[in-house]
Amino acid sequence: MLKKITISQLDTGMYVQELDCGWMTHPFLSSSFKVTSAAIIDKIRKAGIQRLVIDTAKGKDVGDAPTVQESNKQLDQRQQALGEAVAPQENKRSGVANELGTAKKILQDAQSVMHNILAQARADENPRLDDAHLLVERITDSLARNPDALLGISRIKQKDQYLFQHSVATSVVLGAFARAMKLPVDTIRDIVMGGLLHDIGKTQVPLQLLQKPAKLTEDEFAIVAEHVSLGRQILLELNDIPKCVIDIVSQHHERWDGTGYPKNLKGNQISIEGQMAGIVDVYDALTANRPYKSAAEPALALKKILEWSDLHFDAQLVQHFIRAMGIYPVASLVQLDNGLVGVVLEQSTKLLRPCIRVFYDITKKRYVQAHTVDLSAAGTRYTDHKIVGAVNPSEHRINPYDFI
Ligand SMILES: [Fe+2]
Repeated sequence: MLKKITISQLDTGMYVQELDCGWMTHPFLSSSFKVTSAAIIDKIRKAGIQRLVIDTAKGKDVGDAPTVQESNKQLDQRQQALGEAVAPQENKRSGVANELGTAKKILQDAQSVMHNILAQARADENPRLDDAHLLVERITDSLARNPDALLGISRIKQKDQYLFQHSVATSVVLGAFARAMKLPVDTIRDIVMGGLLHDIGKTQVPLQLLQKPAKLTEDEFAIVAEHVSLGRQILLELNDIPKCVIDIVSQHHERWDGTGYPKNLKGNQISIEGQMAGIVDVYDALTANRPYKSAAEPALALKKILEWSDLHFDAQLVQHFIRAMGIYPVASLVQLDNGLVGVVLEQSTKLLRPCIRVFYDITKKRYVQAHTVDLSAAGTRYTDHKIVGAVNPSEHRINPYDFI
């Protein structure tokens, strides 16, 4: 039986099935192994891993730990409760359909702006940020009109453009997050800029390490981790970079429980903007395809972040993040209790009942006439139906972006 335990419950003789650490690198060649000595437990603790899955059929059992199914059920209930309790973001000035064209143009233009900045940094020149300031303004304005347009299409990613896409997607999500926190518009702009630049230090890291199609060794990881201080250095050489941009670059890998890097900062030692960037960086990393892992569904990534919210992130801040993203983020594929499947187009007045475009019947395995439904609207044929969960598009060979 698979059980979920904490590091304090781990004992010799147990069989570790999985180290529940998501994005973190860890010094173990495999995630599954028998714990044969106290030294191994120490090594796991030192790697910052706080939760694990053990297989009680292959090693010692522990009495008071939930099974993986029980733990998942608890998490589902927590997510549903949060979906009902958290009020969605308000004040959209326009419908998502009206904003999509502008959002697409912004993302197209972002490509050349970021290409230039990253190329200048790679050539050890000081990056010129004039075009980036204009881009930040356009992103912030689009998010104010309707955040779901940019949030949706910035999820569409092509191969081999990881740094560019991760920078832009992080900046868009951070901007939406900052709006949900009701921060002043000047601060939102700085945070969006921080998102664009947060990984600029990666331009100083050998490309073969960034693109390595396998797990990094400890030494290789140490080199990649240098991107934080290298990025900070690049920005400190420029004039007039706001403190919160520097904080985002310096602190986006720090974690609430002190398990991050480079300084192992804890709790409020990390600035709010640094903490926000940490959440968004993990969200985008989980939902991205990388050479060594496939992407997690946005709704599942969000659930993981909720699960880690009492450890790696501040729980209050995660609530704001969910307010910005919804329970089922834009562009996720969801299944209704009648078997119909749709892609989330826009958040509505209820987090658990977004506006979706229905186009597939999962029980009959065939496409249906595509139509848009606001699940929060009263008196429609969908009023008595609800979302039962996220669907993995690749399992059904569906491309949700064809229907946005
Ligand atoms: Fe980073």
